[in-house]
Amino acid sequence: MPLQNPVVAIVGATGAVGEAFLDCLQRRKFPLKDLRLLASSRSAGRTVSFAGRDLTVEALNDNSFRGVDIALFSAGGGISKRYAPLAVAAGAVVIDNSSAFRMDANVPLVVPEVNADAIRTHRGIIANPNCAAIIAMTPLWPVHQVNPLRRVQITTYQAASGAGAAAMAELRDATRAYLDDEPHTPAVLPHPYAFNLFSHNTAINPATGYNDEETKVMQEARKIFGLPDLRISATCVRVPVLRAHAIAISVESARPMAPAELRAIMATAPGVRLVDDAVRNYFPMPRDASGQEDILVGRIRQDLSDPSGCTNMLFVCGDQLLKGAALNAVQIAERLL
Ligand code: A2P
Repeated sequence: MPLQNPVVAIVGATGAVGEAFLDCLQRRKFPLKDLRLLASSRSAGRTVSFAGRDLTVEALNDNSFRGVDIALFSAGGGISKRYAPLAVAAGAVVIDNSSAFRMDANVPLVVPEVNADAIRTHRGIIANPNCAAIIAMTPLWPVHQVNPLRRVQITTYQAASGAGAAAMAELRDATRAYLDDEPHTPAVLPHPYAFNLFSHNTAINPATGYNDEETKVMQEARKIFGLPDLRISATCVRVPVLRAHAIAISVESARPMAPAELRAIMATAPGVRLVDDAVRNYFPMPRDASGQEDILVGRIRQDLSDPSGCTNMLFVCGDQLLKGAALNAVQIAERLL
């Protein structure tokens, strides 16, 4: 049943994605009856301004979801596992930004530009995909509509925001310390972050050699696209950028495709903006993508290592906190109205 003027709760309202939820609800004029902000007891009593009002953050507890219609979760997988079922039992639809339920066969995993129809199959929980998966898959889906995907290889350059507000603060602090020639010990990420980059800070699966982030991107892409046999490989890297991910993509299609055709597809693809100015050497950049709802796509060119002409390369950037997280979830919520 469509919801009108729902009561919305944000779980993790004080975090990086929580703040982006507030931003998206406000900027998209989401019709709200009421908004409840939930976080840990450390933040209880803090006030946050929203649409000209001061809202007070409450400590999350078992009774937080009474009267809530839509609960947006972004407080980590453990919190989602424990509290999402309680929210559903209280009558809410949960849109979960963690990885807790993404690969559950009973939970739709949704990028609205790709598989909005899956929203209707929910049984209380809808999963928001991994940020790198959303940012890479949104521009690839319209390619698949015209010329089916055969193989996808991606390399990510992932921002601090994906590891939360504390990682963003660590990047700022470590950069200041580095420039001041002061020592700085990483506390959030495993390696020095300023003027450095490193393989994504998730565990390596010894059986495959892929880290958890790479595995998520590959598995989630297959689920979002409904292509269980899609050949896809990923290398995920953390770079010293605050809030927008960049991704290099090599896409092999069933038939040869000229870069001009791919460029034309991108020019009208939903949620995508073409930034492909070879004359000025102006292509997608994380700083340009930050704060933007669209995914910037450019550097479109034929992969010369595939003489069949079926493989193209592109470079994309998307705001990790917006399309990679909060915006995608709010777009899902809009489809529940
Ligand atoms: P708090 O700020 O009170 O710690 P980020 O992803 O940016 O690190 O944000 C994590 C979010 O999850 C924050 O809003 C944080 O609240 C919230 N959070 C962390 N632990 C809990 C918890 N045990 N109960 C409720 N919210 C939590």
